Order: sequence, then structure tokens, then C-alpha cells
Amino acid sequence: MLNVAIVVGSTRPGNRAGAVARWIHETASRRADATWEIVDLGDFELPLLDEPIPAAVDDYRHEHTKRWAAKMATFDAYVFVTPEYNHSTSGALKNAIDFLYAEWVNKAAGFVSYGYDGGTRAVEHLRLVLGGLQVADVAAQVALTIHGDYVDETELRPREHQYAAAGSMLDQVVAWGAALRPLRLGDEL
Ligand SMILES: Cc1cc2nc3c(=O)[nH]c(=O)nc-3n(C[C@H](O)[C@H](O)[C@H](O)COP(=O)(O)O)c2cc1C
Repeated sequence: MLNVAIVVGSTRPGNRAGAVARWIHETASRRADATWEIVDLGDFELPLLDEPIPAAVDDYRHEHTKRWAAKMATFDAYVFVTPEYNHSTSGALKNAIDFLYAEWVNKAAGFVSYGYDGGTRAVEHLRLVLGGLQVADVAAQVALTIHGDYVDETELRPREHQYAAAGSMLDQVVAWGAALRPLRLGDEL
């Protein structure tokens, strides 16, 4: 059984990310092909990157890094829930990604973005970042708009087509997460 994290990519007080993550978790949890867990960046209280050695060297010094690494190592794939901040992802999510290396490699990732324009520019940046970490990013994605998928811009109510998009994205995350398993097992040998 594949183990997939749904990562809450905003630490802003009152963020929209938590509700988006809960929606995708509820949708994903109807599936039997993986287990799904919400991982909230806010629970890890990561400072701005303060590791003296680059993550690829695999020599983490701080307890907060080891805790974050131990959690993310347990997953086969990730669904990143990202806002769009100034045409990119959140600084908090980029920073959290930069903390680790081996924990990401040879895993699959899908994206759920949101913003006034759907957050697609944030996802394009994330794809570039994750490419450097050998993460296989799937093509299908969910792009929620604050005008179209919220009631009064506050209450999340995704339009019907967003459920279909979520289904396609989750299909691809599970397929690629499973397909990369031999490479991950090879890493551990
Ligand atoms: C610093 C900042 C920059 C933003 N830049 C954009 C943007 O470039 N494009 C956009 O569509 N929305 C932008 N927004 C709106 C956010 O996408 C929206 O507020 C969203 O709810 C933020 O995610 P969060 O609530 O989970 O933190 C921005 C919001 C903030 C706080």
C-alpha cells in the first residue's frame, strides 16, 4: 500500500491551505489504493534554513530537521497544496523542501494550487524545484480559483470539474509512486 502525504503549504495564520488539504484528503480517502495523511508545515516550526551542510550531503544537525526528515521519509509520494504568492509558491514551502534531499528522491508528486488565478504559476515553479530533487511531478493538477471555487471568497466549494481534476491527479500520483518503488528500494540497499 502506497503512503501519500498531503502537504499543507502555507503557514500563514488563517490560511486557506488547511481547508484545501482537508478537501483533497476527504476526496482521496475514498480510494483504496493508498493511505493518505495530512502533513501541516506549521506543525514542524521550521526556521529559515539553518543547516550548515547542504541537505544532499545527508548530515542533518538540528532536531527540527531530523523530525521533518523522519516524517517525510515515511511517504512514497506527495500531494503539495500550495498557494500562489507573488507568482510563485510560498516561501515556507520552498524553505521546507530545501531542508531535505534523500527523503524526496525517486518519489512522485502532484499539486493542488489556489489563488486568484488558480495558482498555476506557483506549481510551475514547484515543478522546477522538485526536478532538482528527482521528484517525478505528474501532469494532472488541481487549480482552485478564489472567485470560482469559494463562496464569498471564504468558504471552499470546489466546482464539479475540480473533483474530476483531483481524481486524475491522484490516479497519476498513485501510478508513478508505485512505478518508482524499485528505485526507492534500490536506494535502501
Ligand atoms: C504575499 C502574498 C502574495 C500573493 N500573491 C498572489 C499572486 O501572485 N497571485 C494570486 O493569484 N494570488 C496571490 N495572493 C493571494 C493568495 O493566493 C491568497 O491570499 C491565498 O489564500 C494565500 O494562501 P494561504 O491563505 O493558504 O496562505 C497573494 C497573497 C499573499 C499573502
